[in-house]
Amino acid sequence: MWTHRHLLGIEDLSSEDIDTVLQHAEQWHALSRQTEKKASVLRGRTIINLFFEASTRTRTSFEMAAQRLGADVVNVSPALSSVTKGETLLDTAKNLEAMRADAMVVRHASSGAPAFLAKRLEHARIVNAGDGAHEHPTQALLDAFMMKREKGKLEGLVVAICGDIAHSRVARSNALLLGKKGAEVRLCAPRTLMPIAAETIGPTVKVVPRLDAAVEGADVVMMLRVQSERLAGAMMSTTREYGRTFGLNAAILARAKPDAIVMHPGPMNRGVEIDTRIADGKQSIILEQVEAGVAVRMAVLELLLTAQA
Ligand code: NCD
Repeated sequence: MWTHRHLLGIEDLSSEDIDTVLQHAEQWHALSRQTEKKASVLRGRTIINLFFEASTRTRTSFEMAAQRLGADVVNVSPALSSVTKGETLLDTAKNLEAMRADAMVVRHASSGAPAFLAKRLEHARIVNAGDGAHEHPTQALLDAFMMKREKGKLEGLVVAICGDIAHSRVARSNALLLGKKGAEVRLCAPRTLMPIAAETIGPTVKVVPRLDAAVEGADVVMMLRVQSERLAGAMMSTTREYGRTFGLNAAILARAKPDAIVMHPGPMNRGVEIDTRIADGKQSIILEQVEAGVAVRMAVLELLLTAQA
């Protein structure tokens, strides 16, 4: 039974909760492949996308998810709002709630911003769409949906997550989810982009500093972008040097299981963390991840807005 009013992080979800989201997403994945992609479970509800950071996939897919469930969606972009006039995050959110918004999907550069709002708003449900380097729960859920679809299970999978781990909420949420599901997680990053005590991120996490060793025998290879917007000073060598040491190419991928899948949450920097032929190659499921993102976000909105939590 779903008992959550908000989705703030994978940390708060049980293994059963994760299964519930993935199961509900199945029907929405199927619906999204039909000509008429419309359900009515959230008819009459109002959902607000409140994104304080750039986004293509996440914002658009939350918008489509809400619409496909019959809800009305309003996009608020802070650059055009009174945030630029000095209004606080809480006042902005309270004003939107006063218009009877039923849910707010929040992306913010500060870790904990969605949890902060969840504690202080009266009735609106909060969905974390990425908070700083903390969590990005719907990304991990959609990644799990695809891993399960491709591999038939999560338990026992070997998942290599490679790139800028230090700044990656995607890596954190994935490591937490995969730990709860009994998959092995190998984190690989240059030393300056690996968080201190990275092993403590998830219960099944191992730190593997070399890319070839991290990919060896893996079922899933997930590449991450270097988040230059979060880099303080020179934590990285040149882009070309980074690509040579930490970029996924055919020779490195050959070390993974022959049927390994390649994933990337986007946005990709082709030729840096991933060779363009691999990104478009037959092991890549990068666009399937994007497709699954709509279905998983439909499941999350449906559960949060219809459960008696
Ligand atoms: C990621 C994010 O914003 O955390 N993108 C996404 O949501 N798919 C990763 C990134 O920005 O590199």
